[in-house]
Amino acid sequence: MDEVTFKSDTVLSDVHLYTPNHRHLMVRLNGMGQPVFLSQFKLLWNRDSRTDSGAEGDGRGALLAEETPPSGPGSARPLPGSGHSDATSQVGLGTRLDEDGDLDVERRPPTASDPEPAGPPRDKVHPTILTQEEEDPLADGARESSPRDIVRIEHTMATPLEDVGKQVWRGALLLADYILFQRDLFQGRTVLELGAGTGLASIIAATVARTVYCTDVGADLLAMCQRNIALNGHLTAAGGGVVKVKELDWLRDDLCTDPEVPFSWSQEDVSDLYSHTTILLAAEVFYDDDLTDALFETLSRLAHKLQNACTAILSVEKRLNFTLRHLDVTCEAYDHFRSWLRRLEGLADGRLRFAVERVEASFPQLLVYERIQQLELWKIFVEPVM
Ligand SMILES: C[S@@+](CC[C@H](N)C(=O)[O-])C[C@H]1O[C@@H](n2cnc3c(N)ncnc32)[C@H](O)[C@@H]1O
Repeated sequence: MDEVTFKSDTVLSDVHLYTPNHRHLMVRLNGMGQPVFLSQFKLLWNRDSRTDSGAEGDGRGALLAEETPPSGPGSARPLPGSGHSDATSQVGLGTRLDEDGDLDVERRPPTASDPEPAGPPRDKVHPTILTQEEEDPLADGARESSPRDIVRIEHTMATPLEDVGKQVWRGALLLADYILFQRDLFQGRTVLELGAGTGLASIIAATVARTVYCTDVGADLLAMCQRNIALNGHLTAAGGGVVKVKELDWLRDDLCTDPEVPFSWSQEDVSDLYSHTTILLAAEVFYDDDLTDALFETLSRLAHKLQNACTAILSVEKRLNFTLRHLDVTCEAYDHFRSWLRRLEGLADGRLRFAVERVEASFPQLLVYERIQQLELWKIFVEPVM
């Protein structure tokens, strides 16, 4: 397999879009025949925390995996509804200061009009396949940092829409940052993540939580997630946290307990989930109105089954899109998400009371990604009506 072609229906996470480097560590093909890459995300415990909205730089330095970006716009598109606004793009291509404070001017990516484009044609990516024995940028990074600083994540680079969970999304990094900032909140808790994708936020949660139920749908995705949990056992075991990868489909009313089905629930897990869960997480799962409906209905159903009051912590990226239908820039998926928050705000349905609060994204940034203004964090508090 020499090359990967981005088709017109390919979805590519911004986390991978703007990485300026040219090498990937491709580790295998997954069950769908998609190339799987290994990236390291470094936790910058000692760095001065950057708390602004990312205008200072794109902070790509700590995404140690070297990735070849698609060689220009149009070869792959971010999540539907993203529109991938100019404002967002500019942050990715912005200027930075080096360690001495000098202006670090970044070259623009090659374009089709370049007489001698430096890279491959814009509709192709040529992953450099590195083996562990050869020069391995990830291994260098790992040597420089203690394992406590490194989260290793297997992911794909680009997928069809139905496989978006195999990529890492900025919302997962924002949520992970919040967990790291609010470690006390998660200490010893039982946590449920919905639509966990690669499992990054669950892994971070499990560095302090007692049990994290890391859930999604699809055996191939869940297997990848399970591998990531294993890859980061050193992080979670240190605090005694356990991550359990399970299938939880928002389009189903029940949890699958058939032992023949991979990632199904044992009766003990179901009982533990309902008895002890107090925090629910979901990152970047609001991109399709039907799925958003299903997600909120699942949240409500779960909240009614949990024995304790709970808090749902949700990250969302307000993606702007120019639509022909409106002849204007809109953010329909985000608007639909906000309409659900308005419905829940102050709702008391007889048994439960809901309250909604936006969390300012001004907490320290320990992971490196573009914390653009459009990234938001919301909390929904659910407690019994007395
Ligand atoms: C954009 S990805 C976000 C993944 C991860 N949270 C992140 O931020 O990197 C959306 C996730 O929602 C999951 N999802 C979509 N439909 C679902 C359903 N019906 N039940 C459970 N998860 C679903 C996808 O599999 C995917 O992992």
